[in-house]
Amino acid sequence: MFPFRGLLGGQKALVTGASSGIGRAVALALAEAGADVVVNFIGSSEAADEVVSAIQTIGSKAIPILADVSQEAQVQTMFKRAIEEFGTVDILVNNAGIQSNAPVDGMTIGQWNSVIATNLTGQFLCAREAIREFKRRGVVSTVSVSAGKIICISSVHEAIPWAGHVNYAASKGGVMLLMKSIAQEVAALKIRVNSICPGAIRTPMNESAWENREAYNALMPLIPYKRIGEPEEIGRLAAFLASDYADYITGTSVYVDGGMMLYPGFESGG
Ligand code: BGC
Repeated sequence: MFPFRGLLGGQKALVTGASSGIGRAVALALAEAGADVVVNFIGSSEAADEVVSAIQTIGSKAIPILADVSQEAQVQTMFKRAIEEFGTVDILVNNAGIQSNAPVDGMTIGQWNSVIATNLTGQFLCAREAIREFKRRGVVSTVSVSAGKIICISSVHEAIPWAGHVNYAASKGGVMLLMKSIAQEVAALKIRVNSICPGAIRTPMNESAWENREAYNALMPLIPYKRIGEPEEIGRLAAFLASDYADYITGTSVYVDGGMMLYPGFESGG
């Protein structure tokens, strides 16, 4: 039984990058909690359509919207459509993200720019449109005590340096202060902004880290809890953070990482 059933009844959510991995699990969890969901995606529509029908099976409404979050006009059109379809947006989950790995001296400007554009600029563009809508609508007390909620999907790499991934780590470090600065700016308007920082989660993005026994075993020394995380574990936290039970939580990063942030190298030694 999903623990938050009904918690987000009457609320409208927009989840970016919702056709796979963590975004998909978050979209389903918000729907289980009662929200209607805009399933943003890029690329082929098949995976997004699958998420839309899974949400409809749960009993919530869902629409797929194709948009590249790094493109200002596409983000604005997406929010316009979402508001036309659902009346408003109460919850934004800034999830869309990519990796493009290379040693720093081999990283092209294209690899740098694409990761910063999707992971950081994309979160800014979507947060800006969401806040415009939250301010326009204000608090509707029958729906939520808050005027709106933004959840940024960041990473343990907003804090942990990551050799071979400087574009990705820089984008997530940026997300941390983007999230906190927006949270500080809009708190008085009853808008809450937080980040979820996943560690290693079983998604297509990090398949190389868990696809075979050897890779999985090599990952385990980094995880004190000795298992990989599942996308649903991020979904459940997103549903809680979006709910009024989390009303006093804003401007914070919540790590879901099996202890990856605990400097496991120091279990013995130091
Ligand atoms: C990355 C994963 C990685 C994890 C832990 C995440 O942000 O997307 O690929 O396994 O951090 O290093």
